[in-house]
Amino acid sequence: MSKLMQSIRAKAATLGKRIVLAEGEEERIINAALKIRDAGIAKITLLGNPDVIATKVQGADFSGIEIVDFKACADREKYANLLYDIRKAKGLTLEDAYRLIDDPLYFGVLMVKAGDADGMVGGSVRSTGDVLRPALQIIKTAPGIKTVSSVFIICLPEGSPYGEDGVMVFGDCAVNPMPDAGQLSDIAIASAETAKVLCGIEPKVAMLSFSTKGSAKHDVVTKVQQATAMVKEAAPDLAVDGELQLDAALVPTVAKLKAPGSAVAGCANVLIFPDLQAGNIGYKLAQRLGNAEAVGPICQGFAAPVNDLSRGCNVEDVVDVVSITALQSK
Ligand code: ACO
Repeated sequence: MSKLMQSIRAKAATLGKRIVLAEGEEERIINAALKIRDAGIAKITLLGNPDVIATKVQGADFSGIEIVDFKACADREKYANLLYDIRKAKGLTLEDAYRLIDDPLYFGVLMVKAGDADGMVGGSVRSTGDVLRPALQIIKTAPGIKTVSSVFIICLPEGSPYGEDGVMVFGDCAVNPMPDAGQLSDIAIASAETAKVLCGIEPKVAMLSFSTKGSAKHDVVTKVQQATAMVKEAAPDLAVDGELQLDAALVPTVAKLKAPGSAVAGCANVLIFPDLQAGNIGYKLAQRLGNAEAVGPICQGFAAPVNDLSRGCNVEDVVDVVSITALQSK
């Protein structure tokens, strides 16, 4: 495990946050819950049928873990009414609300909204869209933020010359398929903040493109140039530059040639990709070809933390994402 993740887990353990794991009947999730309980990283609520959960990890001691049978518990009326109140203006009926809370991802998000949990993690079984949609509809964005987005924390192998001690932040790799310039600017500002809060690094943000400082002309390059200008206006103290090719962002000798005088080129530690195809491919390249540890996706911009797991996640990944979720909770 990277030093960064060790420190994130240790910090989470000082906070005592309650995190709801929506896919509570999934074996990896149950094993992660036991591990989190044993390490004191967070208080855990598992959603699911207690008998099913007990048969998945036989002989386990579940003391200290709250198990909520979301299809039969007494709080269903409270959560159905809460959901109805939030979404009735969108045409949702009370009957629809009762149907939706049969979905543990809706139920879990409603627990967070009601203040019964500090954050939710799902996605070991269900898709990213399935995890994010209830959170977008119910938790919504934090004050002053218009766009929910995501980052991966990339921990490069020991001795890597890139990032801050080998730690980088890549955004957006999981949420916004085709961000416009305004959304790209939001993603950059939020990713810089996540880099500070979770990784403790002073962000140097590169707005990536296939062009450096006007070397190519195309509408998609113009979008990145506009987004860079918007970030500079909205966050004048943030070290940001663009548009930059990846080599100009990372390699000092290339930066000198392509972007002389830039405070970010050659030493960027936050990489902002122009769209989701680039971001998603980019983090997987770092992970698979660069042997980096990729932690995430970590959602940012929600009024309370909700995070998505990869369906290929293992128990340690779940422990990491729960620790991060605890740290994001205010
Ligand atoms: N930020 C803030 N609000 C948003 C965002 C956003 N990024 N996206 C949608 N919303 C709002 C909408 O305005 C809407 O609000 P309202 O209903 O209160 O008016 C609400 O959220 C729901 O929006 P929908 O349009 O119903 O949701 P949509 O179908 O667009 O889904 C989603 C949003 C799930 C994020 C979609 O964009 C998506 O599927 N993104 C890609 C996810 C993905 O597949 N990622 C790749 C895999 S992840 C990996 O490899 C690690």
